[in-house]
Amino acid sequence: MTAPKKLFIKTYGCQMNVYDSERMAEALGGKGYVETKTADDADMILLNTCHIREKAAEKVYSELGRLKPLKDLKPDLKIGVAGCVAQAEGAEIMRRQPAVDLVVGPQSYHRLPAMEERLRQGQTALDTDFPEEDKFEHLQSRPKAKRAPAAFLTVQEGCDKFCAFCVVPYTRGAEVSRPAMRILQEARDLVERGVREVTLLGQNVNAYHGHDGGLAGLIRALAKVDGLERIRYTTSHPNDMDDDLIAAHGDVPELMPYLHLPVQSGSDRILKRMNRSHTAESYLRLLERIRAARPDIILSGDFIVGFPEETDADFEATMDLVREVKYGYAYSFKYSARPGTPAAERALVDPKVADDRLQQLQALISSHQYEIQRSMVGRDVSVLVERAGRQSGQMLGKSEYLHSVHIEDCTAGIGDIVNVRIVEAKTNSLTARQQ
Ligand code: 5AD
Ligand code: SF4
Repeated sequence: MTAPKKLFIKTYGCQMNVYDSERMAEALGGKGYVETKTADDADMILLNTCHIREKAAEKVYSELGRLKPLKDLKPDLKIGVAGCVAQAEGAEIMRRQPAVDLVVGPQSYHRLPAMEERLRQGQTALDTDFPEEDKFEHLQSRPKAKRAPAAFLTVQEGCDKFCAFCVVPYTRGAEVSRPAMRILQEARDLVERGVREVTLLGQNVNAYHGHDGGLAGLIRALAKVDGLERIRYTTSHPNDMDDDLIAAHGDVPELMPYLHLPVQSGSDRILKRMNRSHTAESYLRLLERIRAARPDIILSGDFIVGFPEETDADFEATMDLVREVKYGYAYSFKYSARPGTPAAERALVDPKVADDRLQQLQALISSHQYEIQRSMVGRDVSVLVERAGRQSGQMLGKSEYLHSVHIEDCTAGIGDIVNVRIVEAKTNSLTARQQ
């Protein structure tokens, strides 16, 4: 028997890439590859890349530069680039870095086994199609090996919103929803493998339309899957939060009280220029309705600062919105002009001004985040235990609010959901004792 080949996948960017990397590893598993944790002993290295900001895309080229000497040492080593940089730049990647043997876009990775055959024959392989066939249909069903209790499950891909700054509609294509039957089957398979919590993924997940009643309908169906205890979803657009989805936050116990709902800016002038088709006010009213359905919900968001033409007053409107909402988590980014997007043509804000705004916003968000964490002290929460901690008797997991919780003297095992009392708030985690 020949020894299995080793595959190292490095994942950049969003959770959808994490999910895709798992599926790519499974697809190449059928070709005799097993995963390894380091590049040094790999026979194939795949970089699953992100194109959302310039920094993310440039990281890929510096990583490829670092990997090249490995190939000089080991000529049989194959190097591949997958994900959104692959989609956006295609053959240009091989021109810029000739050590690259394979380029595969996010919609084509079910074709990896055939592409690997080409590499075996000493050829290179490039596929950045948006194929007619559904990649999920052509992937092998997921193997039955035991796995971690929290999993990602992609239900929707692509985006038709065309925010003026964003490459996603170009790299991931138009909105497509997977059929509910397939998702339910994948969820049941995951439960058999020890999964208790799924996070439903989509670039615009609440635009999901593969089930009657949209995402809410899918969530209600998944809530009936025996053994599936917790459901989350990300990332959503405010305009797709329909009445039933809001109601589901109040009446589906399996749906966790956490919602990532990016607004990007608090200024209507900038929102309009971003082509967001909602206002700060309509977003705030929407949050009121969501909080009425689920008063303890923790909110999360994304912000861009330094969008072209953003004035001090526009930025202050963003700070005001953040003060009003008080996010439990929020991610803020300095605007990065992406080639091919409408905003890329517009004049940039002075980078120093943008840096300064980013720091101010991040400081405000962190202060809220910490305040919310501290307010958890003394409260009882339920934690899905995901792994053992460094100290003896300590287990780590996530509360229903997605806080990382360290449980001291824990008697529960991985995959258990336990009730605990929070005793301390640290910067990035909470400490708890079992009840
Ligand atoms: N520049 C900066 N941030 C961006 N995002 C998307 N495109 C850009 C860009 N060109 C941010 C948005 C989005 C998150 C995933 O990344 O806030 O919600
Ligand atoms: Fe990009 Fe999200 Fe806007 Fe779609 S809704 S274009 S993914 S920022």
